[in-house]
Amino acid sequence: MLSGRRTLRRLRQSAAGLAVVTAAGLAERDAKPEVPQRDDGTPRQRDLRVEEIPKRPVRRSARMMPVHLRTIDDVPGDATRPSTPHGELTLEQIAELLPGTGELMQSVGVAWWKCAYAARGGNWALAAYFARRVRGLQRKLAIVRPKYADDIAAFESAQIAAVLAACEHADRATFDAAFANAVDVANELHVKWGKGYIRWTLPTDAPTDLDLKG
Ligand code: HEM
Repeated sequence: MLSGRRTLRRLRQSAAGLAVVTAAGLAERDAKPEVPQRDDGTPRQRDLRVEEIPKRPVRRSARMMPVHLRTIDDVPGDATRPSTPHGELTLEQIAELLPGTGELMQSVGVAWWKCAYAARGGNWALAAYFARRVRGLQRKLAIVRPKYADDIAAFESAQIAAVLAACEHADRATFDAAFANAVDVANELHVKWGKGYIRWTLPTDAPTDLDLKG
């Protein structure tokens, strides 16, 4: 009964029309409501098609009614230990399973490689796509490892933006300069963060899984 009342309350709130309303809600307006009776005489719900539900103006009193909001108390189980089909995991365990810097950077390296060769092939839309892929991956890194957020924001607004602008203008010379500068800055950041032995270089082979022609 409580949930029925809640349904009605929402119906009046939105006036959008739900498919089912209780017989009690109909009685005040329908001259001859088709409410089937149970054996015990209590009225049952009647299913209505959406177009059958009259559009009623929202009454002032209804607008003032409190809406029942779900709170953490309503969530079944322990929200800090979400359950999976294989058992419960803590939020810490889930956080540990997110891709870390190495995994994200590996994907960055692949996308950056494909970006360069798409530009060389003249497929500027593909080159821009991969520059945006790098940007998206780095934004994820800024979330999972906030200590890199400032460097990533600066790299995005200077280096990635310059590469994207060159793609936009299909300008190979500008692209090459912007790309080379971005690689230098990335490798300087690797030094800054204690990974100076990671020096990214453009592979000599072009990727073969994509049509790079413009
Ligand atoms: C287009 C630009 C970049 C490229 C191509 C690039 C490439 C790479 C590659 C290939 C790795 C090794 C990944 C592996 O473990 O297999 C790496 C690692 C790393 N990169 Fe970048 N990177 C770029 C930009 C950046 C930026 C902007 C930062 C910002 C702080 C950064 C920070 C790091 C760090 C900290 C590591 C070490 C990973 C670890 O600690 O596990 N990189 N990068």
